[in-house]
Amino acid sequence: MPPTTPELPELEAIDHILRTTRSVRRRIDFERPVEPEILEQCIEIATQAPTGLPPETWRFLVLTDPAPKRALADLYRQALATLAEARGGEVKATQQQLADHLHTLPALILVCAQGRPAPDSVPLQVAFYGSVLPAAWSLMLALRARGLGATWTTLHLLHEREAARELGIPEDVTQTVLLPVGYTKNAVLRPAARRGAAEVTYWNRWGGEKPD
Ligand SMILES: Cc1cc2nc3c(=O)[nH]c(=O)nc-3n(C[C@H](O)[C@H](O)[C@H](O)COP(=O)(O)O)c2cc1C
Repeated sequence: MPPTTPELPELEAIDHILRTTRSVRRRIDFERPVEPEILEQCIEIATQAPTGLPPETWRFLVLTDPAPKRALADLYRQALATLAEARGGEVKATQQQLADHLHTLPALILVCAQGRPAPDSVPLQVAFYGSVLPAAWSLMLALRARGLGATWTTLHLLHEREAARELGIPEDVTQTVLLPVGYTKNAVLRPAARRGAAEVTYWNRWGGEKPD
């Protein structure tokens, strides 16, 4: 029987990927193409994620040609400008840089879900998005493990319908996360500053402390 828990250092390697899968917006090798086979391999891994709505609803739209990348990047930039205006002009420099260079990323992967979320049902909405977003995160992890950087983005969704028209996405398909992807270049990926598990975990009752 194969072991169910990986042995060290395999466990360390897995934990390392889980802890250091960060947004990579600037330290990307814009000149180096990403092999379609590698992207397909990562998507293959992503489709091992949980899904609650058989048959699987996830769809992955991979943009590598200049025209569709530019069309989506233009919509993304419009959305960022709207956000900046709403925030009184404030956008993080790295976010702006990603937007400025979005069309030059080697690949843009748009993770979609077949269907539309139920407007008024929390359980159905959770099932709908919960059946596709774990795959998007697995995809980011698989990319990271192969030296590819990505960023979890959703801004272009402010213009979801326009994006659908540009890319030929049917009306009954919901767009979710857009991952701009490229090989990392001189990127040092570290664990993020996050609140500790003890601070965000309750036991046995909301607010309850960890048993001794
Ligand atoms: C739901 C969601 C939507 C996001 N949308 C965007 C986005 O459109 N553009 C962007 O630059 N970052 C976006 N982010 C933020 C980054 O993906 C990232 O999580 C954040 O910058 C923290 O950096 P880290 O992942 O390296 O810790 C989004 C994050 C989440 C969780």
